[in-house]
Amino acid sequence: MPSLVVVGTYWGDEGKGKITDYLSAQADVVVRYQGGNNAGHTIQNGDRIYKLHFIPSGILHPKTLCLLGNGMVIDPVELVAEMDQLLKAGVDIDNLRISDRAHLILPYHKLLDGLNEERRGPNKIGTTRKGIGPAYMDKAARCGLRIADLLDEQELAQRLAENIRDKNLLLQRYYDVPGLDEQAVLTSLINAAERLRPHIDDTSVLINNALDVGKLIVFEGAQATLLDIDHGTYPFVTASNPVAGGVCIGAGVGPTRINKVLGLVKAYTSRVGDGPFPTELFDETANCIRERGKEFGTTTGRPRRVGWLDGVILQYARRVSGLDLLCITLLDVLTGLEAIKICTHYELDGKRTARFPARVSTLGRCEPVYTVLPGWEQEVGNCKSWDDLPENAKRYIRFIEELAGVPVGMISVGPGREQTITIRDIFD
Ligand code: IMP
Repeated sequence: MPSLVVVGTYWGDEGKGKITDYLSAQADVVVRYQGGNNAGHTIQNGDRIYKLHFIPSGILHPKTLCLLGNGMVIDPVELVAEMDQLLKAGVDIDNLRISDRAHLILPYHKLLDGLNEERRGPNKIGTTRKGIGPAYMDKAARCGLRIADLLDEQELAQRLAENIRDKNLLLQRYYDVPGLDEQAVLTSLINAAERLRPHIDDTSVLINNALDVGKLIVFEGAQATLLDIDHGTYPFVTASNPVAGGVCIGAGVGPTRINKVLGLVKAYTSRVGDGPFPTELFDETANCIRERGKEFGTTTGRPRRVGWLDGVILQYARRVSGLDLLCITLLDVLTGLEAIKICTHYELDGKRTARFPARVSTLGRCEPVYTVLPGWEQEVGNCKSWDDLPENAKRYIRFIEELAGVPVGMISVGPGREQTITIRDIFD
């Protein structure tokens, strides 16, 4: 079974970093296929904690080839800083390759991201302000600069000049803020280009060659299903396609070459940023989950909103990504709760529905319908197998499995690599 996609089923932060790192021990290649440094993937290796934003979560395994796919948007200066941080921590990054077709995030994208958010006022999206949306806008507008453009200084200078001229007009005349210094931006790009040059490649060729010889590939989704620009809670979404189908476009592989899709399901739901969230909790249980789950954004430090597991979203995620297997994460966070609720349906205008609505205003009117299951007292962080888990935790997992109609293959009971229970062969 040579290729597996890891995709988040909710609004992100389902623990994709830890699980990708865990699976990378067996994988030959790990590929990011969308997004940029809006992602924040946390990996714990022994006492050390690594926070990755661009670089795939396989990087801690020295033999694993780590690729940044063409579907990503990359801030070259920030990427170099992340590479330096890993080097400082003694991590080997020789196996890092960056697609020559990935688009660049430039200083004006970051500026515009912040300015657009301020202009939206109370209707803001709650973006990470890393310039993700504006960089994808330039890609679609066909004026974007790509990683390959870093390889030719003269062409880079000319393309950058055209872009800065237009962006400075926008900044000065529309937003009434100072424009950017073209020479300063160019110099920083030239410096970053020198560092990135040995890592730049046609990553689609590397991926397809690896698949040809039966190598094992993990495609690491960033953000998640409900942040997908097509399938998510639009407009409160990111600007790319985290769903499994995004792999084909964002990595340059055909759909026939993807073998399995692993959906990551947090034992409860969380969300950063704005927009409706039907099972959101505001009470003492919310504080307890937030504290135990350390639910504060890896990229922005913002406290995350938390709520009960939402089965309507889970079924939606199964459909749009074709989930084959589930991995339940952060199960340990629910220990100690007397009762655990799971949303099985929504009540909308007096009727029960399990359909996930297209409009956020409709979602905002959906009332969750819950099934209540008994909680458990026993800490699960040291459980090594299915049999070690408390009966009520098993009951909760079986309930999720039935509701989703997808078998559970893995359970994560803590941040450490060893705190992972595998109940089905993921790569089979
Ligand atoms: P952007 O991706 O920075 O444009 O932000 C769009 C929305 O996606 C905002 O609600 C962000 O909070 C959310 N978002 C972006 N990246 C992540 C992530 O990695 N985890 C969780 N939420 C994210």
